[in-house]
Amino acid sequence: MSFRIQPAAPARPNRCQLFGPGSNTKLFVKMAASAADVINLDLEDSVAPSDKDSARANVIEALNTIDWGNKYMSVRINGLDTPYWYRDVVDVLEQAGDRLDQIMIPKVGCAADVYAVDALVTAIERAKGRSKPISFEVIIESAAGIAHVEEIAASSPRLQAMSLGAADFAASMGMQTTGIGGTQENYYMLREGTKHWSDPWHWAQAAIVAACRTHGVLPVDGPFGDFSDDEGYIAQAKRSATLGMVGKWAIHPKQIALANQVFTPSDDAVTEAREILAAMEAAKAKGEGATVYKGRLVDIASIKQAEVIVAQAELIAANG
Ligand code: COA
Ligand code: MG
Repeated sequence: MSFRIQPAAPARPNRCQLFGPGSNTKLFVKMAASAADVINLDLEDSVAPSDKDSARANVIEALNTIDWGNKYMSVRINGLDTPYWYRDVVDVLEQAGDRLDQIMIPKVGCAADVYAVDALVTAIERAKGRSKPISFEVIIESAAGIAHVEEIAASSPRLQAMSLGAADFAASMGMQTTGIGGTQENYYMLREGTKHWSDPWHWAQAAIVAACRTHGVLPVDGPFGDFSDDEGYIAQAKRSATLGMVGKWAIHPKQIALANQVFTPSDDAVTEAREILAAMEAAKAKGEGATVYKGRLVDIASIKQAEVIVAQAELIAANG
């Protein structure tokens, strides 16, 4: 371990982030009743330019009047390249009460983007005497965002989560696809005439996880557009979980249970992790740093791996 200890990410479940357009008020009560850990009320790209003002008002009213239970409440503001974002921050922070937990900043390209929103948020919090500090989440969805991912992860003590936004990311990178996440038809290796599909999102996800883990931020996988493809969603989510991400977005309610299933460690995985911890306790008692579990090596690093799974399961259990 480096002399600099890796900071822990916020201890709250973030298995599923359910999105809904701020202009579609009939969805709000359904979102509140859902099993998602995080709710993202959207003012950005699911809201038409003509609806920006009314969506903002809808979201403020929804935050103030709907019973959101114990959900973590986030509002996605418009990007810093638009004329809308400052009004999103000012109106939402001045008019929505303490039920608001988080602001999501889309299309972040550098640490200064987060700094700008932080300055505005800090001034409003002081002016209005808000006692609960607003946290931030950001979306990495551009070439600049991924190029500057580490400085973005380190940009503000408010930052709690970072998502990969596959659609805007693909567009910014000039990728030849209109798919939002998942397997891409033309991204394959050939071996003996047979195609083997690879994962074009992998490197961006791994870069996000590394930046997040370095700075104590939750890494999250973004949207999966084809909500009729459950198997595709599950496959994408399992790859993300394997890489270290803690959750995934849902853009349709049927994706919520899928995300919760994948990002909740299974009973079998937790049992195995606990058995590895027990095996290592027994090894330690004998003065050994390594032992054999089910025919394979486990050592002191295995303790940390097993603890990741047990800690995640306990965190989820503790939050009901
Ligand atoms: N949250 C909660 N409930 C939702 C929902 C959401 N995001 N999306 C749909 N529902 C509800 C519908 O109202 C419908 O409810 P009902 O059975 O009571 O009538 C049910 O789920 C089935 O919906 P369905 O008819 O399959 O979908 P739709 O055509 O109404 O909507 C979308 C499809 C994609 C337009 C809609 O899901 C949506 O707006 N998703 C969020 C988009 C978004 O926020 N994007 C930004 C982030 S990428
Ligand atoms: Mg986007």
